Amino acid sequence: MSEGALLELRDIEAGYGPFRALFGLSLSIEPGEAVALLGANGAGKTTLARVATGLVAPTAGEITIDGEDFTGAPAWRFARAGVAHAPEGRSVFASLTVAENLILSFHRRRGRQGVGAGLDQAYEIFPRLGERHDQMAGTLSGGEQRMLALARVLVESPRLLIADELSLGLAPIIVDEVYDKLSAIRQSGTAVLVVEQHVGHALELCDRVVLLDHGATGWEGPTDEAADVVVTQMFDTSGGGTRG
Ligand SMILES: Nc1ncnc2c1ncn2[C@@H]1O[C@H](COP(=O)(O)OP(=O)(O)O)[C@@H](O)[C@H]1O
Ligand SMILES: [Mg+2]
Repeated sequence: MSEGALLELRDIEAGYGPFRALFGLSLSIEPGEAVALLGANGAGKTTLARVATGLVAPTAGEITIDGEDFTGAPAWRFARAGVAHAPEGRSVFASLTVAENLILSFHRRRGRQGVGAGLDQAYEIFPRLGERHDQMAGTLSGGEQRMLALARVLVESPRLLIADELSLGLAPIIVDEVYDKLSAIRQSGTAVLVVEQHVGHALELCDRVVLLDHGATGWEGPTDEAADVVVTQMFDTSGGGTRG
């Protein structure tokens, strides 16, 4: 175990009903650190992101935040402790406008008073959302929906942002824009755990790489030593990585 860890997962087992997705996984993130969590489809990355944000309770192992026990704690306690989750997929309310999506989120977290300031900040982070504030979220492009989902959590200035497959299905130019924002929040001192199947941007952003393989840590080390390992383990079809 590491002393000053912001978030620490120890010997985590987790799954869905009888199905087990994580097998004794340990991972720790220091304040301000940027970690890339890589791995083939089905390796357990999303499950780990859910465990680390309180959405899935582990069946064994321990979770601490700043050394305090969070094992089995509800998701809102993780959020309150500054651990934010940008989930995989299009996590917006399709039939509400951009502004309504943001208002709903800010109102819940900071009350009526904080809504106006939250909107201003969100539109400053992603000006495109301001331009489209009146548009139904369901009619936004995939990239804009991802910006909306990300704006909701970035405005809360989390201490740790866990971002799941931000680049999936997005045009390269949008991926660049989203990663520019991640880089900026990193520089402001926020720790990030970036879950990606597409590794280029994640490697550029992060100091450290954790490679998941069948629900356990396959490799862990500094980014500059990761390139070869990542290429062999993720793209070697004989290596046994599950493929979707
Ligand atoms: N909601 C769920 N119900 C049942 N099984 C799931 C669920 N989500 C993921 N799994 C299974 O857990 C394993 C790990 O999945 P996941 O964590 O989504 O991997 P990754 O994000 O690396 O692709 C996979 O075998 C997947 O089929
Ligand atoms: Mg996933």
